Amino acid sequence: MSKDKENKQPLIEIKNLCKSFDLQAGFFSKKDKNVFAVNNVTFNINKGETYGIVGESGCGKTTTARLLIKMYKATSGSIVFYDEDGKSFDIAKLNKAQTKVYQEKVKYIFQDPARSMNPRMNVLTVMTDGLKYSSKKLSKQQIYELAKKSIVDVGLKEEDLLKRPTDFSGGQRQRISIARGLILEPSLLICDEVVSALDVSIQAQVLNLLSDLRKERGLSFMFITHDLKVACFFCDKIGVMYRGVLVEEAPAATLYKDAVHPYTKLLFEAATGKASASTVEVKTTLEKENGCPFAHRCPKATEKCFSSCPDFSQITDEHKVRCWNQ
Ligand SMILES: Nc1ncnc2c1ncn2[C@@H]1O[C@H](COP(=O)(O)OP(=O)(O)OP(=O)(O)O)[C@@H](O)[C@H]1O
Ligand code: SF4
Ligand SMILES: [Mg+2]
Repeated sequence: MSKDKENKQPLIEIKNLCKSFDLQAGFFSKKDKNVFAVNNVTFNINKGETYGIVGESGCGKTTTARLLIKMYKATSGSIVFYDEDGKSFDIAKLNKAQTKVYQEKVKYIFQDPARSMNPRMNVLTVMTDGLKYSSKKLSKQQIYELAKKSIVDVGLKEEDLLKRPTDFSGGQRQRISIARGLILEPSLLICDEVVSALDVSIQAQVLNLLSDLRKERGLSFMFITHDLKVACFFCDKIGVMYRGVLVEEAPAATLYKDAVHPYTKLLFEAATGKASASTVEVKTTLEKENGCPFAHRCPKATEKCFSSCPDFSQITDEHKVRCWNQ
């Protein structure tokens, strides 16, 4: 076993996670239907690691993130979190006070910063609004000092705290949402498409900022993106998701060189312009399916693929894939 591997300590373990949403029956349809947004998803994030979740629109990335911050209750499966002392707990079993502490350790940066900031508030209020109720019982002065440190840490100035979100560019607004996420020094920062809406040069600046924060603080990230190339640049490990199912997982460098799953290969071809990128949202599963989720689009599909979903098989120690025909 390599030294690097020995040193890995778990931060969060997600096991067989499922989330389905009930859809109300329409006027003419007799039965209510379910959307299977997250389907039997298993992955771990180690301390100090950046784990990327990659997939097209509608594949279940945001739902997975919302399950991690307990914004949604899982239909089944478990999420186990390890605190600073290495003590583990199942997040579903936390009481209200413990949930508050947990939600300060796992912070979520919203997909769309413009929509998550009230334009009538100044940046200080946007960043600290929830802190009045924090488990840390902070005074007004302590809250201000934390906000000042956080805004400076993301490359903005103390005076910016008194401006409004609309006074800033898209990249600066994204810095403000990162500062808001970091204010209570979480262990895990979930970044949901944080650079997708930005120009390429601004994207690079925000990614460099996140890289610096990772190095300085040993912070762990869950980095959600539809862009496999950005994920390969930024993440240590990547999980590729399709229609709620994790179909391949590997260290970023391995995935870049040796992707195995036909869907991962398609994403790489689309990213390099060799295939046309899908612009349509991935059709959500409304009925529980038995087959491979990618069968309807896969050039290698056989009869078995439509009737039975493959389990993960290990390609190497850290590389696993769900496909019958590797
Ligand atoms: N609250 C909800 N009620 C019903 N269906 C939902 C709900 N939230 C998400 N879904 C459905 O679950 C599926 C997964 O959605 P999710 O937002 O997790 O995808 P995503 O990968 O984050 O997509 P995007 O890249 O567009 O943000 C989609 O089909 C979506 O329509
Ligand atoms: S299991 Fe079959 S349909 Fe699914 S990715 Fe593999 S070859 Fe394609
Ligand atoms: Mg999303």
